Amino acid sequence: TGIEAFVRGLPKTDLHMHIEGSIEPQLMLDLAARNGLKLRWDTAEALRGAYRFQNLQSFLDLYFEGCKVLVTERDFHDVTRAYLRRAHEDGVIRAELFIGPQSFTERGTPIEALMSGVLGAMEEARREHGMSLGLMISVHRHRTEPDAMAVLDQVMPWKDHIIGIGMGGAEVGNPPSKFARFFQAARDRGFRTTVHAGEEGPAAYVREALDLLQVDRIDHGNACLADHDLVRELAAQRVPLTVCPLSNLRLKVVSSMREHPLKALMAHGLHVTVNSDDPPYFDGYVTENLLACRDALGLSTEEIVGLVRNGVEAAFVTEEERQALL
Ligand code: ADE
Ligand code: ZN
Repeated sequence: TGIEAFVRGLPKTDLHMHIEGSIEPQLMLDLAARNGLKLRWDTAEALRGAYRFQNLQSFLDLYFEGCKVLVTERDFHDVTRAYLRRAHEDGVIRAELFIGPQSFTERGTPIEALMSGVLGAMEEARREHGMSLGLMISVHRHRTEPDAMAVLDQVMPWKDHIIGIGMGGAEVGNPPSKFARFFQAARDRGFRTTVHAGEEGPAAYVREALDLLQVDRIDHGNACLADHDLVRELAAQRVPLTVCPLSNLRLKVVSSMREHPLKALMAHGLHVTVNSDDPPYFDGYVTENLLACRDALGLSTEEIVGLVRNGVEAAFVTEEERQALL
């Protein structure tokens, strides 16, 4: 339709996506075969059929199972290249990609293989598609703070190729405060920071992210709406929220798209961006996320353009790079 082509054609950002959450089902089967691994599913349709989740944990279980197919440098290259090609076709001009090394190094994959594969594919996409790209290292909040510190040490040889540090995983019971020293260390080493907060967790976790971790952005952030003082501060400081509407729907953070808080967040003057998170698992890249919000919440064309522009403003780029993207 007209609006679909319009949204796809808009130059967009994807600031919250996980490389290991971007493996399309057929590629997962191909990588498993290449590595001599047997999956619980034989066909892409059967695998896609398993993408039905009750909550964040039920998704994480499958997501970490899927991580097993990424073993060699070539695997990391191929999955990154596939996402970037698809995102480019979707009209994404700036993508910031998370990868969580712990899922792979714990099984013996050298950090060098992971970094070389991902960074090589990013360099190709810059060259071939003219995309603006940044890599972010994400740690697991359900593991310990010393584990996270070890990841930070491991990736320091690639410091100049990493724009930021983030954290995901099982949120409830693993508050931001558990990682206060880790985020301080990340900031001390010159990294931008962001953290998943207020996805399944309460507004208090978003508060901790802001006050204790002093992050530059919040990933998701939905739950902030329960705390009016917090909303006021987030709006005043223009802290970007990287919201992922279809992720929220599929993980039952919201019971329907009509109940998604996107418009409420916007109405409070928050710096809202729309992102894909783990596109195949949640059945949508950035365009589908924007269109789902438009259909359910009645976003105007101006509101869609505003959300897309917010993404460019929230990107971890220099002012010069930002002007080039606008
Ligand atoms: N890792 C990948 N996607 C995630 C999400 N939505 N929440 C927490 N951790 C994640
Ligand atoms: Zn995420």
